Order: sequence, then C-alpha cells, then structure tokens
Amino acid sequence: MRASRIEIIPTGKALGAEIQGIDLREIRADEFESIYRAWLDHQVLLFREQQLTDEDLIGFSRRFGELDWAPIQETGRRFVDGYPEIYIVSNVIENGEPIGSLGAGEASWHTDMSYLEDPPKASILYALEVPPEGGNTYFCSMYRAYDSLPGELRRRIEGFTLKHDATYNSGGYVRHGAAAIDDPLNSPGNYHPLVCTHPETRRRFLYLGRRRNAYISGLAVPESEALLDELWSHATQEACVWHSVWQVGDLVLWDNRCTMHRRDPFDAGSRRVMHRTQIKGEARPTA
Ligand code: SIN
Repeated sequence: MRASRIEIIPTGKALGAEIQGIDLREIRADEFESIYRAWLDHQVLLFREQQLTDEDLIGFSRRFGELDWAPIQETGRRFVDGYPEIYIVSNVIENGEPIGSLGAGEASWHTDMSYLEDPPKASILYALEVPPEGGNTYFCSMYRAYDSLPGELRRRIEGFTLKHDATYNSGGYVRHGAAAIDDPLNSPGNYHPLVCTHPETRRRFLYLGRRRNAYISGLAVPESEALLDELWSHATQEACVWHSVWQVGDLVLWDNRCTMHRRDPFDAGSRRVMHRTQIKGEARPTA
C-alpha cells in the first residue's frame, strides 16, 4: 500500500489550510480521516490541480454525508441534467439563459441556506472556469468572531435568536417562489440561536447567516439593526478573514456551520463557472 502523501499547510490566518499531495478521485479511508480532521480544525480546505467530473465531485462530496439537492435557479430550472445535487455558480449566458446563479456581481457575506431549519453542514465549490481578475472568495471564521467579542457584548447576546431571511440570495436576487420584501419583522425565514455550539468540535461560534432582513427576536427593529451592525462589523474584520485566488481545478470545501463567505465582483465579459455541492446538516443549529 502506498504511503499517504497528504500535507496540510495552514494559511496562518484565522482559518483555512491547503491540502497538498492528494488526487480527490482516489482517497483511502485513512486519508479521508485526515482530510475530515483538517476540515474540522481549519474550517476551510483548498485542494489545487484537481481534475473532476461531476460524478467525481459528487463521489467526493458524499464521503461527508448525504447531499442536498441544489436550490432551484432564479429561472425556475435545476442546473445539470441527471445531477440534481449540482448547483452552478456562473455568469455565463447560453441560448439567452443563464447557466447558473449569482451573475458577475458581488455576493455578499453569508452562510449557505441558513434560512432553512436544517442548513447544510458543508459546501464544496469546484472551479471549471475562472476570470483573469476578481471573483475571489473570502471566508470568515465565526469561531474567531465569537472568541474575540468584547466580554460585555458576548454577555449581552447570550440566549438571543436571529431570523435568517429566505427572500434574497447573496447576489441580491429574489429566490424562486419568494416575493420581494424588505421588512425584517415580516420577511420569511427561520430563527436560529445567535450563538451556536458546533455539534462536532463543541466550540461556540457566532451565527449571523446573512445581513439583509435579519432580525433579533424580541428587540425593537432599530435596536436589532444597531446590534446587528455592531456584530457584523466585528465579525467581518480582517482578523477573522482569509481569501483564496481561484485557479482552474481548485476545489474549496468549507464548514458551513462556523464560517461565512463572500465573493468579489468580476468583469461580466469574462467567464466564471463553478460547480457546487452541499452536504445535508445532521443537527439543527443549537446553542
Ligand atoms: C456561493 O456563495 O456559494 C458562491 C461563492 C462564489 O461564487 O465564490
């Protein structure tokens, strides 16, 4: 049996590590264990120079658990025939129709699908085409955000629950089946604890999800807005963030429970095509 060649290289930032020496099409059980441990420790893992078909991507993703079906595109269609698990993030238009979601604009900070009762536990994004500039993805450690909160603020938010809006996606588009609304009290969504405990690491993290239409239960809207602004500016400061510059063949895997991510805009005339899978949540977010 060949020796494992896996190398784990932490970014030195609040989160993230690059895993070298592995072809994700051929992973042994002991190698998968190292990858899983590294993912819990570093929250986001980057694998470069992969050559994956959709089937390979689904095969690797399934090692982490059962997969979600991709949300329906804004056009009302699913993405890849025969592979309902694959969501395409792209600005490319073919035959007058976008082949994916989110266009070329900025995707604002968010946790994937945190508006559901049971949000996904992990997301995986695989780069097929990348623009020459821009379109980079930033990740934020919500462990670091919680651990570095001033003590008084940490005490103040203990026991609060927060509404995660289901109306808009991170590109600002209205989701399939939703109606535009900008009233945090009445917008659709689910409530989760503002501070959660990770079901596997048992570490506590701030759970913000997405800013638009967020609402802290029981507070007057202006009070909720002011407290959320304070928490958001703390959580997204440079000290909590790392970003990767995409190359074709990169695969990035993130722990969707204890991270947020955002994407830079890029030139709409260049092409960006990413395939994404999501692993179902196994435990509802709990305090
Ligand atoms: C996403 O928000 O899931 C997509 C991020 C990206 O396009 O980099």
